[in-house]
Amino acid sequence: MNALKKSGKKHRADIQPIGVEKTIHALFIQDAVEFLKTLPDQSVQLVLIDPPYNLDLDYWDTFDNYLQWAKQWLDELYRVMAANANCVIFGGFQYQDLKKGDLLEILHYTRHQTKLRFTNLIIWYYKNGMSAHRFFANRHEEAVWLTKSKDYYFDLDSVRVPYDEASKKLALRDKRLVPENIEKGKNPTNVWEIGRLNGNSTERVGHPTQKPLEIVRRFIRSLSAPGAIVLDFFAGSGTTGRACLEEGRHSILVDSEEKLVAYFDAHLKQIPDSEPILPYEIFVNHPLEDVLKEMNLQYNSLAKRD
Ligand SMILES: C[S@@+](CC[C@H](N)C(=O)[O-])C[C@H]1O[C@@H](n2cnc3c(N)ncnc32)[C@H](O)[C@@H]1O
Repeated sequence: MNALKKSGKKHRADIQPIGVEKTIHALFIQDAVEFLKTLPDQSVQLVLIDPPYNLDLDYWDTFDNYLQWAKQWLDELYRVMAANANCVIFGGFQYQDLKKGDLLEILHYTRHQTKLRFTNLIIWYYKNGMSAHRFFANRHEEAVWLTKSKDYYFDLDSVRVPYDEASKKLALRDKRLVPENIEKGKNPTNVWEIGRLNGNSTERVGHPTQKPLEIVRRFIRSLSAPGAIVLDFFAGSGTTGRACLEEGRHSILVDSEEKLVAYFDAHLKQIPDSEPILPYEIFVNHPLEDVLKEMNLQYNSLAKRD
């Protein structure tokens, strides 16, 4: 960032947000791999997915050969991502001794067998979890951040965390830190403390593995520009879509379960009338070509092509 400042070049975070009059949210009830085959090259700026974990949590969560299944969609990622695009894959490394595939295998595969670049590992740390007596109780899950090139979109300023008064004073005395960045707030680091959704959380819409909005929102803000197209092809309840709708991005949500539509509706009902959001349109199983055309009216002006 300092080097860029000196050279007078603009950091990606300096890109002016593009105005969008409305956002579009397209839901598809379809198999993820089948859907991806129909998606044109370089059509999305952020892929944000929370795939099955292979933990037998539901009928969709059991695989004889997890990686063999995952390869089918991992191999499509690079192609559908725009040149400056990001990809986030949620998962876990803590699944002890199961000798089954998990996020570790996915990360290993993407590093060695795809052109995707590994940029960050985000540790989602939470205080609420199961107790344990034979090992240290687990309090984290992971998300892998992959990019297509070194020229990826990243808006750190949108997710900076405010300093408290005492640490702000200390930081302002530290010559290594840029005063204007101190005013903007701290880098949230790659360890994010965000509570898991308890069974009685008011945010819950009924999906068994729903992710907290806060964690999804942080990725949407920092890794996609306003007006960009965000894809989640394991959409579950549509948490990604809700965050996009509230943050002024378009979303493409795919899930093999029809319940996505009702879950997403429940998400929308939770948005208070007083919240300032752009007008939005929702399409269910609408022709993909038309949906992309409508979204691209704004998106093309920002996305860089190879
Ligand atoms: C871990 S959940 C995602 C939860 C989501 N992040 C949320 O906050 O609600 C994974 C989802 O993937 C869906 N799924 C599993 N296999 C699929 C496939 N082959 N194609 C599309 N969706 C699939 C399941 O129905 C489930 O809703």
